Amino acid sequence: MIKVGEYEIREANEDNIWEAVKINEKTLPEHYTFEFYLEVYRNFPEGFLIAWLDGNAVGYIMNRIERGLSHFGFSIVKQGHVVSIAVLPEHRRKGLGTALLQTAIERMKNRGCQEVYLEVRVTNEEAIRVYEKLNFVKVRTIEYYYSDGEDAYVMARKL
Ligand SMILES: CC(C)(COP(=O)(O)OP(=O)(O)OC[C@H]1O[C@@H](n2cnc3c(N)ncnc32)[C@H](O)[C@@H]1OP(=O)(O)O)[C@@H](O)C(=O)NCCC(=O)NCCS
Repeated sequence: MIKVGEYEIREANEDNIWEAVKINEKTLPEHYTFEFYLEVYRNFPEGFLIAWLDGNAVGYIMNRIERGLSHFGFSIVKQGHVVSIAVLPEHRRKGLGTALLQTAIERMKNRGCQEVYLEVRVTNEEAIRVYEKLNFVKVRTIEYYYSDGEDAYVMARKL
C-alpha cells in the first residue's frame, strides 16, 4: 500500500476491478468491456492499481507488459504499456496521477521492462503535462487514433 496524503494506492483484485470500470465511465470517452479489464489485470496484476479515500475508489491505472519495436531504436524490447489512467475530477491535482504512474513504472522496471509508452489525445494538455514531468517524450503522432477522429501522441520513456 502506498500513501499519498490521505489517499491510499493499492493493487486491484478480481473482485474490485469494477471500481476502475466505474471511474473510467465517469472520466473518459473510451470504454472497454469487463473482460478487457480482466485480461489487462491478469497480464500484469501488480500494475493494476486503484487509489482510495475512506473506502471509496477515486482513481486507477492499468498497464500491460508487451514485447514490441522500441520507440528509441530498431530492436524488439519488453515494454510497459499504460492502457488507461484516470482520477475523479474532485480528487485531481493532489499528486495521485503522478503517484499512480510512478508506482506502475517501478513495477514495470521490476518486471524487466526497458521502456514504457502510452497514447494520449493531442488536446489532453493536463495529462501530457503529467507525462512530460515524468520524462515521457512525444515519439510520434497517430492520426485519427480515437473513434471521434482525434489524433494521439505516442509518448514513451526509457526505464
Ligand atoms: C491526467 C490525470 C490522470 C492526472 O491526474 P492528477 O491526479 O490530477 O495528477 P497530479 O495531481 O499528479 O498532477 C496534475 C497537476 O497537479 C499538480 N499537483 C500535484 N500535486 C499538487 C498539489 N498538492 N497541489 C496543487 N497541485 C498539485 C501537478 O504538479 C500537476 O500540475 P501541472 O499540471 O500544473 O503541472 C487526470 O487529469 C485525469 O484523470 N484526467 C482525465 C482522464 C485522462 O485524461 N486520462 C489520461 C488519458 S491518456
